[in-house]
Amino acid sequence: MISMPDHFTYDELSRDFSWSIAEKELEYKPGDRINIGWYCSDRICLKGHAEKTALHYEGFGGVEKKYTFNDIRLAGNTIGTFLRGLGINDGDRVCLFMDRIPELYLSFLGILKIGAIVQPLFSAFGDESLFVRLENAQTRAVITQKKHLPKVRKIRSQLPHLEYVIIVDGVKASDLEKGEVLFSLEKSEPVENLDIHPTTAESPSVLHYTSGTTGQPKGVKHVHYSLISQYLTTKWVLDLRNEDIYWCTADPGWVTGTSYGIIGPWSLGITQCVLDSGFSAQAWYKFIEKHRVTVWYSAPTAIRSLMKAGDEIVKSFDLSSLRHLASVGEPLNSEAVIWSERVFGKPFLDTFWQTETGSIMITNFPGMKVKPGSMGKTFPGIRGTVLDPVTYAPISEHGRAGLIAFQPGWPAMMRTYWNNPEKYRDKFVNGWYLSGDRASIDNEGYYWFIGRDDDVINTGGHLVSPFEVESALLEHPAVGESAVTSKPDEINMEVVKAFITLKPGFAQSPDLELDIMNFIRKKLSPLAMPQAVEFMEKLPKTRSGKIMRRVLHAKEWGEEIGDISTLEND
Ligand code: PRX
Repeated sequence: MISMPDHFTYDELSRDFSWSIAEKELEYKPGDRINIGWYCSDRICLKGHAEKTALHYEGFGGVEKKYTFNDIRLAGNTIGTFLRGLGINDGDRVCLFMDRIPELYLSFLGILKIGAIVQPLFSAFGDESLFVRLENAQTRAVITQKKHLPKVRKIRSQLPHLEYVIIVDGVKASDLEKGEVLFSLEKSEPVENLDIHPTTAESPSVLHYTSGTTGQPKGVKHVHYSLISQYLTTKWVLDLRNEDIYWCTADPGWVTGTSYGIIGPWSLGITQCVLDSGFSAQAWYKFIEKHRVTVWYSAPTAIRSLMKAGDEIVKSFDLSSLRHLASVGEPLNSEAVIWSERVFGKPFLDTFWQTETGSIMITNFPGMKVKPGSMGKTFPGIRGTVLDPVTYAPISEHGRAGLIAFQPGWPAMMRTYWNNPEKYRDKFVNGWYLSGDRASIDNEGYYWFIGRDDDVINTGGHLVSPFEVESALLEHPAVGESAVTSKPDEINMEVVKAFITLKPGFAQSPDLELDIMNFIRKKLSPLAMPQAVEFMEKLPKTRSGKIMRRVLHAKEWGEEIGDISTLEND
């Protein structure tokens, strides 16, 4: 739990860099056992911090709960023991389908401790989103809350691998259906000793699902060795120190919420706060003031929403505890960097990475010159470049746009896509891992983000697959054909827009539009819900009948349509 020297420079850190720096600090030697659950709790207690606060939770209606590192150690043991009692084995997939309640964070540790694989899923997912991910992972158990149980029940009979649905709150034993079990952390006897499963570097740990342009979402498989990257990037980029109070606003349904909302901070023995309630500038500032938050990791959409709430409101709170701010998930516009420096006295520093990379790849560090609008430079030990989109050769010319690519080999890199080795192989060209994003690199090695290289929609920092939305739309009784793209949005940068043709016998109306929107919200999630539906006589297609999303996208964004020679004519 040693923090970074205040006087470091980027060049000093990069010179002679080796991941063994983290291995040494974590007292890990290649070939040893390594278990993230143990590192995040037991080890911190062994280092003498058992009574330090690990988690300070605040939920709806102001409910508060506090857990020390010893509490989270015991909770992990208790949950792990319970799961073992059900017959959950190492390698089994256990899904977390919960709001940001303490059980979510504590079960994460328990599942890892017994060598099972955590599959976190965003609790706002609808039954269809949930189903495809549970089916793909052949998940054996889901841990959830009463409020989300109806969604699980709806799809349960189609999931032969799903043996247990574990409910952590409020359901009466008499209301349980077959395969449903209750678990209450508060009512369970704490388990002092648990045999941690002897996981090693390559043992699977976390399975996050991410959306692509085509096909169903892909399960990104991570391993316990990812800890090495997550520990060091948390320490150097988020600059967490012993006395810090850290707040990561991301939900653990997404990778930021696990890599930097659980693993990074707890492996460093840092106190973190969690706020499980919707966004409001007032509530967020109050939370920072009340908990004396020092390090804050958030996302551009949230920052833009705070900007919109204005400067005046900031003055009604004492935010002087803030020492360091960082951002991830979408382009951080230079206005947001400059604004945050003005109102908080320090800028949000941009970081770039992905579910697949598992840890921060391109970043601004404290102490490094910030160029507002740039994502910063590669983390020491990461070899990055931009590749020519045609030849895939690295571009040496400064400022020329190319595909962001990395040389594999950092500890947190995904090991494969679950049951989909072909899609995994497709991510590599000439030994480079292709991120799917475009950028240019300037003469000082700073990366400037340009955009994604595919049709995936990044709405408020969340990736939405147009394919998934199009497929779900076709299940609506009125929809004949569908095409999905994004449209610009002031806060979320882009939102989902659906273009549809209607089946004979249906007429367009505002009610139908609303019905279609709600249909997607319930089936997929509020993020995937189209914010606009345009009814069309016919969709633009190639002569071979393929829908040309690109034409619709260009229209929405006021861009050149490009080559439409293959467009079908009347
Ligand atoms: O397109 C990039 C964008 O988010 C994608 C990764 O999304 P996901 O796997 O959900 O992980 C998000 C959190 C790690 C990237 O391919 N993205 C991420 N960070 C940035 C970004 N785009 C611009 N600037 C960033 N800093």
